[in-house]
Amino acid sequence: MHHAVEKILVSQEDIVRRCKELGKQISEDYRKCGETPYLVALLKGSIPFLAELSKHIDLDVCLDFMDVSSYEGTESIGDIKINKDLDGSVKGLSILLVEDIIDTGRTLKEVTTLLRNKGAKDVKVVSLLDKPTRRVVEIEADYVGFEIPNEFVIGFGLDFDQKFRNLPFVGILKREFYE
Ligand code: IMP
Ligand code: MG
Repeated sequence: MHHAVEKILVSQEDIVRRCKELGKQISEDYRKCGETPYLVALLKGSIPFLAELSKHIDLDVCLDFMDVSSYEGTESIGDIKINKDLDGSVKGLSILLVEDIIDTGRTLKEVTTLLRNKGAKDVKVVSLLDKPTRRVVEIEADYVGFEIPNEFVIGFGLDFDQKFRNLPFVGILKREFYE
């Protein structure tokens, strides 16, 4: 077992299997309404998930990236700091936002609002993980890999202090790291 991991919550095999299912579902759904999703991934946590998921989307997708951070202590919509903005315009596009985890929901709420304000035709969300019991603002992903309990997790993109993003599975961080 990795030295920082208490317990493996989602194995690499489970993630790959679920990405295949999600990719198939996404391909079918978008094909049905004649749309092609424009994948917008939030840096840096969503990169391993984007890499695995996008292989299983059987449509001619484009990829773009954004890096945002939320201002501590504020809850108002639109109040996020953009560290790296999209390269292209999203006007008229059907965006599929790719995220690592939904926790309070604040990040997604603000980014989806921002993308709609920039003229996106549609904004849907796919998240590898969801901690529904932690939600503070009302937002739901259209596609979720795994619902997980209220534990701090690392791996497959998720970090603690910028480390452990490279682990090939999702695991619970040992408490001694933050207590
Ligand atoms: P939200 O705005 O509270 O939903 O925050 C979502 C962001 O918080 C995610 O994109 C992660 O960067 C971070 N985050 C939330 N929970 C965890 C966790 O258990 N491990 C690592 N990062 C997390
Ligand atoms: Mg994140």
